[in-house]
Parts: sequence; C-alpha cells; structure tokens
Amino acid sequence: MCSPLCARSSGRAVSAVCWGRRGADALSGVRSVPRRLIIDTSYSAHFMDFKGSSIPSSMKKLVVNKLSPNFREAVRARAVAVPTPADTELLVRNRFVGINASDINYTAGRYDPSVKPPFDAGFEGLGEVVGLGLSASSAFTVGDTVAYFGSGAFAEYTLVPAKESVPVPSVRPEFLTLLVSGATAYIALKRLGDLAKGETVLVTAAAGGTGQFAVQFAKQAGCHVIGTCSSDEKAGFLKSIGCDRPINYVTEDLAKTLKREYPKGIDVVYESVGGSVLELAVNCLANKGRLIIIGFISGYQTPSGIPPFGGGTLPVKLLQKSASIRGFFLPHFLGDYKDALSSMMQMFAKGKLVCEVDCGDLTTEGRFVGLESVFRAVDYMYAGKNLGKVVVELTPPNNNSKL
Ligand SMILES: NC(=O)c1ccc[n+]([C@@H]2O[C@H](COP(=O)([O-])OP(=O)(O)OC[C@H]3O[C@@H](n4cnc5c(N)ncnc54)[C@H](OP(=O)(O)O)[C@@H]3O)[C@@H](O)[C@H]2O)c1
Repeated sequence: MCSPLCARSSGRAVSAVCWGRRGADALSGVRSVPRRLIIDTSYSAHFMDFKGSSIPSSMKKLVVNKLSPNFREAVRARAVAVPTPADTELLVRNRFVGINASDINYTAGRYDPSVKPPFDAGFEGLGEVVGLGLSASSAFTVGDTVAYFGSGAFAEYTLVPAKESVPVPSVRPEFLTLLVSGATAYIALKRLGDLAKGETVLVTAAAGGTGQFAVQFAKQAGCHVIGTCSSDEKAGFLKSIGCDRPINYVTEDLAKTLKREYPKGIDVVYESVGGSVLELAVNCLANKGRLIIIGFISGYQTPSGIPPFGGGTLPVKLLQKSASIRGFFLPHFLGDYKDALSSMMQMFAKGKLVCEVDCGDLTTEGRFVGLESVFRAVDYMYAGKNLGKVVVELTPPNNNSKL
C-alpha cells in the first residue's frame, strides 16, 4: 500500500543489522580506535557513563500525535526524560539524522495500520554512544560512533539495540546515506535488476537520496544510465557521478525525449515517483525490460498515499514485450544487507562512491541544524529541492567526538 522502509515487529521498527564492531571495522578497512575504559559497571543501573560526559536529564524528540501525511500537522516536539539503556541497548547521542520520503508514510500510519499515536518519528541516525547496558558492552563502548536505522531517530538521544547498530569510523553524515538510500539501490539492482553490460537503465528522482546510488551502481555495471531530475544543477551533479543522459524534465519533455533518443526502449527502470511517471516508464520498456518499483513519492502527500495509475492495459503491455514489474522493499532483503553495507563502505573509503549529502546549507534559512529543522527538511524534500540525501545536523560535535 505504501513504500515503507522498515517493517514493524513488537512495536519497534525492525532494523537490518547484527554487527559486531570488530567485523565492521575490518569490512570498512578502518583501523579500530583504542578501547576506552568503562568507568562504571553498575549492575543495578546497567548504565555507564564516560568521563562524566554530560548527559542531561531531559531531551527533545519528535512525536507523531496525529496520523497524517502532513508532517507538520502530525508531529510535535516534546521534552522527555533521556532514556536509560537496557542490558542490550546503546544510548546514542544523535549527531545527524536522515530524512526519508517515507517519513510521511510513517506519520500517516501506513506502515502499521494498527499503530496508534503517540509514537516516535524518524528512521535513521548517526552519533556517539554515550551510555550502554552491560551485555551491549561486549561489542561497544562509550565514545564509539554508530549508525542505525530503526524507529525514533528524530530525537536528541535514541536507544538502539546493540545488535542493530552499525559501527562507523567517524561521525560523517555520508555514512548515513548508505543505511537506507544506498542499501536500497545496491540490493534492488543486484537482486532484481539483472543488469548486463551495455543495457540502458533509467533512474527516476535520480539526484535524490537513493537515486544517486542507483545511477552509480548501474554505471559500475557497465550500463548506459539515464537520470531524471528537476533542475540544471541536479543534471550537472548527475553528470558528475557518471550519468550518461540526465534529463531535466522541467525543461525537456521526458516521454518525447526517451522515445526519440531510445527508440529500442529501456532495459531497466529504477522507479521512485509513481503515477504518470510510472505509466511513462512502462510504455518505454524494451523487450524483456524490468521495471523495479522503489516507491511512488508523487502520491505520498495525498490521503490514500497512492498516485493514480492507469494500469488497465498493463497485462497486454507486459506480455507484448515479455517485460516485468518487480516491487522492492528493503526489509524483505535483510539477508543481503550486511554485504551491501560493507561493500559500499569499502567503495566510499576508496573514493569510488559519491555519497552526496544535502544539509540545506543553500536554503534561505540556512543549514538544517537542531531537531526543529526536521520540519523544514521534510518540506525541502517534498518541494523537490534536495540534491543528494537530506540530512539534519542535530548537535555540534563535542570534545570527545571522532569527527
Ligand atoms: N522500497 C524501499 O525499500 C525504499 C527505500 C528507500 C527509499 N524508497 C523510495 O525511494 C524514493 C526516493 O526516496 P528518498 O528518501 O531517497 O527521497 P529523495 O529522492 O532524496 O527525494 C525525493 C525526490 O523525489 C523527486 N520527486 C519527484 N516527484 C516528486 C513529488 N511529486 N513530490 C516530491 N518529490 C518528487 C524530487 O526530485 P526531482 O525534483 O529532481 O524529481 C525529490 O528531490 C521514494 O519513493 C521512497 O519511498 C524506497
């Protein structure tokens, strides 16, 4: 019904990973930082502090108070007590949080129709471990930098199960781009794209969070890559990451351009927009073409969440071309997640993967800093202004940071 990112289980969004710190360091090719000593191993509190690092007693978080795809209508900032980690949990001081198109599907209750407000918002964060439970201390320590995806990221501090935390070498927002956006492109193209060298791949919303990765992975597979976007600046960015034919659909007619320049059709489509763009993409599929449905953002702001689609003749169109449409939902591919993440981290470390981050620095109100900026960042994405992954910086670095 919608394009959610995380499946829910036991009231908590399921995250994808079971990492040990050592494993991830090896995979990312980054040397382990020296272990810091645990100062307080209080069994009663199951809570550890580091060098008296100041953990305040209260914090702000964003809570969904009312189900609505209008983020501003659905969500309120609340002051709450900073939670105490349970035995297997980390308390993460969020430094950066990622904005996803599906944040508004989540606030509309489309992930889990049984969910009732109030519940926490936000899918992914990156920050420092400032406290942890005793069992969690076998794999992590205070001061570690971790990323995660799961519910409740739009908060100054978030509790994260240690086994779902991804150790990262430093607090760089680029790592945040890989958790959902990068992993979606990597796994979807690998498992459902069946890409062959020389094939033509169309990526819609190509300059956005996940689109940028689809472009790069399709290019790495030796394909000719076409990417749609809404500005010349985005088209320039797409060129810079290897896109052969960026199409600014504001200044060029997408359907006519594709028909004229690709008369044999498109082999693979990585489709995120839905509605009329999906129809157009179906119509331009080549024989044996594969269209992967990644999302349908053009409908998310509507009450149903689903854009109109004239699919009456779909069976005929697919049959006549021996073409197929395949849906992709990241939580269904968790078996591929660890390999995807380590491979992307290695590519990034070697300078072979661009992880473009957009913190809103060029907006009139300036960079997205602080929890309240999440509202502005969601608006920004839905205005189609972002170039790369939209990220909000929650807090400036502290003295213990590894940035
Ligand atoms: N299936 C999964 O597991 C999964 C995982 C992650 C993301 N997704 C999907 O991937 C898509 C992109 O998500 P993202 O978080 O990476 O966002 P994003 O691409 O960073 O941002 C959204 C972009 O979509 C384009 N867009 C086209 N039509 C739009 C419309 N009517 N309203 C707003 N934006 C529109 C805009 O780019 P232009 O203006 O340049 O067109 C905008 O910048 C979404 O459909 C999302 O649901 C799916």
